[in-house]
Amino acid sequence: MIRLKNIANVINEAYNESIRETMTVTEDAEMRALIVNCSPVRSGATAEIARLVSDRLAERCTVKTICIDDYQFSFCRGCRICHATGRCVLQDDVAEIMEEFARADIIVSVSPSYWADIPGQFKAFIDRCTPWCNTHEPHATIPRGKKGYAIALRTGPGMRECERIIESIWHFYGHLEIACMGSLGLPGIENREMVEPRKEEIVSFCEKILSHQES
Ligand SMILES: Cc1cc2nc3c(=O)[nH]c(=O)nc-3n(C[C@H](O)[C@H](O)[C@H](O)COP(=O)(O)O)c2cc1C
Repeated sequence: MIRLKNIANVINEAYNESIRETMTVTEDAEMRALIVNCSPVRSGATAEIARLVSDRLAERCTVKTICIDDYQFSFCRGCRICHATGRCVLQDDVAEIMEEFARADIIVSVSPSYWADIPGQFKAFIDRCTPWCNTHEPHATIPRGKKGYAIALRTGPGMRECERIIESIWHFYGHLEIACMGSLGLPGIENREMVEPRKEEIVSFCEKILSHQES
């Protein structure tokens, strides 16, 4: 009797395990989006845009938002050891950010203009991604097939500066072999209150992101 009960338990456990596996596969089948607030301000205009993007994408994807300022990392020292090894000599939070990149199917970088360029914190992170840069062998890699998007905002009126920021993000994505799928420039935004009137532009950009997931 006890033996029969044991066998039943084993079968039951195996069945539960297979259900758990199926559930994991189903969960994993959902698109994962990573939204990067490239500003050091955690609750500013960039964060508000990231929140709107997150809300829309969350209807169809699992979304994670990170802020560049949530992480501690040093500047690249330019030692070039990674050119020969594919690894950085510095051990800090860059690896953690790259794990988020590796997990995501969609990456949306949202960057303000600081002196007509990306903020220094974001630039420092990009420099530290040199071990993943495809211009040298060996180099570290993240899984292929990721779709990348860029949103640039600034206080001034023209698009030119937004385009420069988008170019920097494209350059970064290109060397990580993340496909550059679409961008949005938002001039005329000084603070978070100025984001609400631009909601329509942001949501319609999200529709474009979601439409790419169907094709
Ligand atoms: C240090 C600094 C430099 C800036 N430089 C520019 C600039 O060159 N051109 C511009 O249009 N806006 C500039 N801005 C304005 C920001 O792009 C704008 O306020 C943006 O909404 C800030 O978003 P955040 O608060 O999320 O960082 C600058 C802001 C800061 C703090």
